[in-house]
Amino acid sequence: MLAGKRILLGVTGSIAAYKAAVLVRLLVKAQAEVKVVMTPAAGDFITPLTLATLSKNPVLSGFTNGNSGQWNNHVELGLWADALVIAPASANTLAKMANGLCDNLLLATYLSARCKVFFAPAMDLDMWQHGSTQANINKLISYGNEMVSPEYGELASGLTGNGRMAEPEQIVSRLHSFFSAANRLAGKKALVTAGPTYEAIDPVRFIGNNSSGKMGFAIAEEFARQGAEVHLISGPTQLDLHIPNVKISRVKSADEMHRLAMRYFPETDIAVLSAAVADFKPATMATQKIKKTDTGLTIQLVKNPDIAADLGKIKKDGQYNVGFALETENEQANAEKKLLSKNFDLIVLNSLNDPGAGFGHDTNQVTLISRKHEPKKISLRGKKEIAAELVKIIIEDIHA
Ligand code: CTP
Repeated sequence: MLAGKRILLGVTGSIAAYKAAVLVRLLVKAQAEVKVVMTPAAGDFITPLTLATLSKNPVLSGFTNGNSGQWNNHVELGLWADALVIAPASANTLAKMANGLCDNLLLATYLSARCKVFFAPAMDLDMWQHGSTQANINKLISYGNEMVSPEYGELASGLTGNGRMAEPEQIVSRLHSFFSAANRLAGKKALVTAGPTYEAIDPVRFIGNNSSGKMGFAIAEEFARQGAEVHLISGPTQLDLHIPNVKISRVKSADEMHRLAMRYFPETDIAVLSAAVADFKPATMATQKIKKTDTGLTIQLVKNPDIAADLGKIKKDGQYNVGFALETENEQANAEKKLLSKNFDLIVLNSLNDPGAGFGHDTNQVTLISRKHEPKKISLRGKKEIAAELVKIIIEDIHA
């Protein structure tokens, strides 16, 4: 799986830098092409000569090569890599990455890299537990980076706890699963609805909701990463995605979303209905701004089309539909009912009772209920990680 893959290894200033030598050795043995970028502090722990010899490539550290007038192009390096692995990732580098600082070649390469980024933290236990380190890590994960978690054990300080860098074998195995999973949806077409819908009351007012669209955008991105061609139909959100195989159609109302979804569904292999569609809309939209009166205002609402249910009705063999349910009581039973009534193949049960989960948050906590599997609970995680888990289960289901 790793043969011919281009792995850019970033090494930072941590005592675990000695493990980078073993990591390079394992990657080269697996026939990957390896280049190493070191931060200036990494040189205090391991020599460039060691890593250059093992990787069979010059090790890069500064923006320029001494006085040669040549510079190390971080953009080219970022584009060259199929995966960037930062191991060990020190607390300092993680903090800079989380905040977009780029005062060394590795950080500039990280900021410009388009490939998947893995980071394997290594630090002392108190640094690891510190709120700022944890906040930086959550931020990095929310940007789509993947962490190879540190392990519990004896640390260089003599203390025992979390913070020890994952073993090189474990990092290689993560890369292995990443490359074997990629492109499993090549040739498939996915349709994703995301965000809220706005139902116009008059030219300046609407009925809407707080959905941010983050979950749907993360799912669209993950589908694209797995090789699918994605059509994302989004209600009004601040979000954007610039990925070649994701087409975004922006809509406002449930009617517009319904029209587009019905049009594109026949050619779709997988549909994920993650939009928070307004159940009702004003019976009529006032053509002029409604003036206030002393007597109050009654707006008559009528039902919106149910996009998920309508797609479920025309779903053919071989198509796979996923819905979301937001429940506050009898959660699983209600979600299972919805799975059947809307003809979903899988439903993602959101529990609003959980802190940190749901609308507007970067994190979520869900249970995936599929017709083919036992329900799978996913504890509080970044929406991008949940999207990755969801897409993984969809892939398993459609290949089962
Ligand atoms: N959905 C849709 N079109 C609608 C309403 C909902 O496509 N008009 C989809 C949502 O995108 C989601 C699922 O249906 O996938 C949610 O179903 P819904 O019945 O609205 O469930 P809840 O939001 O949980 O609300 P309720 O329990 O009140 O039915």
